[in-house]
Amino acid sequence: MIIFAIESSCDETSAAVIRAENDRVDILSNVVATQIETHALYGGVVPEIASRAHLEAISTVAERAIADADIVTSDIDAVAVTCAPGLIGALLVGVSFAKSLAYALGVPLIPVNHIKAHVAAVYPANPELKPPFYAVVVSGSHTSVYRVTGFTEFDEIGGSRDDAAGEAFDKVGRRLGLAYPCGAGMDALAAEGFLSALSLKLPSPHLKDTYDFSFSGLKTAAVNLIHNERQKRDLCDDDPLPDDIRKEIAAVFTRSVTDGIQKCLSSVIAEFGVAPIVLAGGVAANSHLRNALSTLAKKEGVSFISPSKDLCGDNAAMIGIQGYYEYRAGARAGCDLNAYASEESADANGVFSYETDA
Ligand code: KG4
Ligand code: ZN
Repeated sequence: MIIFAIESSCDETSAAVIRAENDRVDILSNVVATQIETHALYGGVVPEIASRAHLEAISTVAERAIADADIVTSDIDAVAVTCAPGLIGALLVGVSFAKSLAYALGVPLIPVNHIKAHVAAVYPANPELKPPFYAVVVSGSHTSVYRVTGFTEFDEIGGSRDDAAGEAFDKVGRRLGLAYPCGAGMDALAAEGFLSALSLKLPSPHLKDTYDFSFSGLKTAAVNLIHNERQKRDLCDDDPLPDDIRKEIAAVFTRSVTDGIQKCLSSVIAEFGVAPIVLAGGVAANSHLRNALSTLAKKEGVSFISPSKDLCGDNAAMIGIQGYYEYRAGARAGCDLNAYASEESADANGVFSYETDA
């Protein structure tokens, strides 16, 4: 079947075409229009601006996805769309567009959970991967560890009690003078920092004896460390920290994040048993985190799987892939489909309430 998918939960307007048959999913097109440059001016995503930018981009992005896939609209068998979690105004643009398209074509509309879709990004390149496995989803708004027991069945084992890991990367990166979003910049800066011995220290985000994290505590400690290092050098507001210290702080921060996630996953495996490890979400593009979890997987004798870097960030291909599994499980939405800021509110409204799994 051919699925047309839409993603608009944050600052990327994306449309994709997926071909899915049995357990084989192929991405025929995946067009992503990013708003990063616009939001970089403000140091973060401005929700109202994001909604307007989605509205401006969505028709063109959708047309491009159809042209790139070399299909016509009458080839589309279903439309999948992110309806939670995310920025409500941003989500509504994609949901409204998807509802109109599904209605006009007379095809089913499939509501998709953005977090589950991040994990689905691994399936095209890893057709042999089947649940059960562990999934660590690390993004700008989410950090959770799941036991994935079916393509649509996720048990949350633990997660952040406050900020997401990506948010911490972005805030600390900004204090180190990097442009928003700072994840990729922090990755590169840390790589240089790791070349020298690290003497600075930061706390672990992993909360002892739990499967949970606090990235807010780590973020505050890193911001204080930057402040202290600036004070030691008597720097004025516009003076940057010396490069060697910036690199060391990026490396120490990255080490705390990666060690914390690795430690949590180690205790999850000790408690619940071995299973393949999937790392997904925007922060899964982090080379140090990929290395740390790949090392852990090797030690545990299980496979480590993460999407290619272009599929780690927000994109509609992952929505189409998860949409296929949701469709098989019986998920359907009508023209009354709404958008929800959180998974909890979507669940409370029964958006993803269907029991069977393929
Ligand atoms: O999944 P995503 O694209 O959007 C959300 O659903 O939140 O994740 C975006 C986050 C941003 O915080 C960005 O800084 C972070 O992913 N990120 C990274 C890297 N590339 C993107 N964080 C660390 N290292 C990276 N290489
Ligand atoms: Zn995301």
